Amino acid sequence: MNSNEVKEKVIDESAQGSTLALEENKKNTRKLYIESYGCQMNFSDSEIVASILAKEGFNTTQELAEADLVLVNTCSIREKAELTVRKRLEKFNAVKKVNPNMKVGVLGCMAERLKSKFLEEEKIVDMVVGPDAYKDLPNLIEEIDEGRNAVNVILSKDETYGDVAPVRLNSNGVTAFVSITRGCDNMCTFCVVPFTRGRERSRDPRSIIEEVNDLWNRGFKEITLLGQNVDSYLWYGGGLKKDYEKATEMQKATSVNFAKLLELCALAQPKMRIRFSTSNPQDMTLDVIETMAKFENICNYIHLPVQSGSNRILKAMNRLHTREEYFELIDNIKRILPDCAISQDMISGFPTETEEDHQDTLSLMKHVKYDFGFMFAYSERPGTLAARKLVDDVPKADKKRRLTEIIDLQQKHSLYRTQQHVGKTEEVLIEGPSKKSDQHWMGRNSQNTVVVFPKENYKVGDFVIVQIEDCTSATLLGTAVKLSKNN
Ligand code: SAH
Ligand code: F3S
Repeated sequence: MNSNEVKEKVIDESAQGSTLALEENKKNTRKLYIESYGCQMNFSDSEIVASILAKEGFNTTQELAEADLVLVNTCSIREKAELTVRKRLEKFNAVKKVNPNMKVGVLGCMAERLKSKFLEEEKIVDMVVGPDAYKDLPNLIEEIDEGRNAVNVILSKDETYGDVAPVRLNSNGVTAFVSITRGCDNMCTFCVVPFTRGRERSRDPRSIIEEVNDLWNRGFKEITLLGQNVDSYLWYGGGLKKDYEKATEMQKATSVNFAKLLELCALAQPKMRIRFSTSNPQDMTLDVIETMAKFENICNYIHLPVQSGSNRILKAMNRLHTREEYFELIDNIKRILPDCAISQDMISGFPTETEEDHQDTLSLMKHVKYDFGFMFAYSERPGTLAARKLVDDVPKADKKRRLTEIIDLQQKHSLYRTQQHVGKTEEVLIEGPSKKSDQHWMGRNSQNTVVVFPKENYKVGDFVIVQIEDCTSATLLGTAVKLSKNN
C-alpha cells in the first residue's frame, strides 16, 4: 500500500467516524440560541462559542422559544449597553415560564465585570462565562445540567482561540471577521475593556492565514482582522504583549508585527479584500500605511478613534498622543493613501471637559473631515481610572448638546465625503440585497461606504465596477458597469 492509499483509507474511516458521530449528536441534539451585543469582537466570539458547542451536539436556532440553551454575549462599554442586556434577560424570563427546562448563560464583558454577582442580581441566569473561558463551556454546561449554577471568569495569558474554527453565524457568505488579538493594555481611563478582556495577546499568524485561506476556499471575499488595538499586534511565539521584552533574541528576530501580518494576509489571498479594526492612533506606524499602499487588496479605510480634540482631555483619557501628533498621522495617511477613508470614535462630556475643549473637538473634526463616525456621551464605568479619580461633572444636558453638535458636524462631513465619490467608477463587493429595495444590491467600496445599485444579472459575492451617480450622507447610489477584473 503506498502512502496515498493509506491516507485515503484514513480519510474514509474518519468520514465514517464523523457520520457516526453526527448521528450520535443528532440523537442528543440540543438547540442553542445565541444573541450578541456590542463590538464586532463579541459577534466574532459568538462564532467561536457556536463552534465549541457544535461539538457538544448543539445546533443553533433563531427561535428563542425552542431553545434548550440561551446564551447572551454581553457588552459593558456604556451603561446603556448593560441596561439593554438586562431588558433582554426579562424577556428570557418570560420565555422560561413557558419552557422551564431552558437554561440561560451570560458571556462576554458583563459576565467578566459582574462575575458571580450576576447570579444574585438576575435570578434567570444559570451560567456566567468570561471572554477567555469559552473552552470550558462543555464542563460548565454539565454543571448546569445537573442543576448547579456555573461560573468561569478566569482571564488568560495566552488564550486566542486560534485552534477553534468559528461557525459563521448570520453570515452573508461574503464577509467575515478574523480575530487577531485579544485584550487591551492601553488603559484609556474611561474604558472598561482592559478589565473585562484582560491583557493583550496576539494570535499565531499561521492560524490566522489558515483561517483566511479556509474562508477564501468557502467563497468568502472579504475579511476584517479584528482586535481592540490591531496595530499593536505582535507575535513572538505566544504570551502577553507586555512580556515581549523577556522574549529570546531568536523569538524577537522572527516576530511578526501588524504590518507584516497584513502583508502575509494580502499575499496569502491576493483577491481577498482585507480590512482591519480598530487602530489606536498611538500604535499606528508608517509601515502599516505603506503596506496598505503596496497591496491593492488591502482596503483604503482606517477606523482611527480619537475620542477628543483637546490635548488636556486626551491626556486625562490616557490617550498617549497629542492633537498635533494625530494631525501628523492623518497627513501621512492622506499623503501615502490619498483615497483613504478615515472614521472616528468620539466621546462628549468626559469629566472636566469645558466648552473650549469641546470646541477643540469640533475644530479637529473640521481639519480631518471624517468619512464616518461613532459618537457617544461619556458614561462612567465602575472600576475604571476615570470613575475612581474623576468626578463625572459635565451636566447631562451639556453632554447631550455637545454630542448633538458633534453628530451634526459629522453628518455634514459625511455628506461632503460621499459627494466626492459621485461621478467616479468604483469597485464594489456585493454583500446582499439592499434593505430598502429587493431590486437593488448593497455592497461597499474600498473606503467602506455603502453603495446601492440595480441588481441586473450580478450576484452576491461579485466584485462589480459601479458608476456612482448620486449620494446621501451615508450611501452612494449608482449603476453597475461591468464585472471587475478581480473576480
Ligand atoms: N479599542 C478602541 C475602542 C474600543 S471601545 C480604540 O482604540 O479606541 C469603542 C468606543 O466606545 C471607544 O472608541 C469610545 O469612543 C467608546 N467608549 C468606550 N468607553 C466609553 C465610555 N465609558 N463612555 C462613552 N463611550 C465610551
Ligand atoms: Fe478601550 Fe482604549 Fe483599549 S478605548 S479597548 S482601553 S485602546
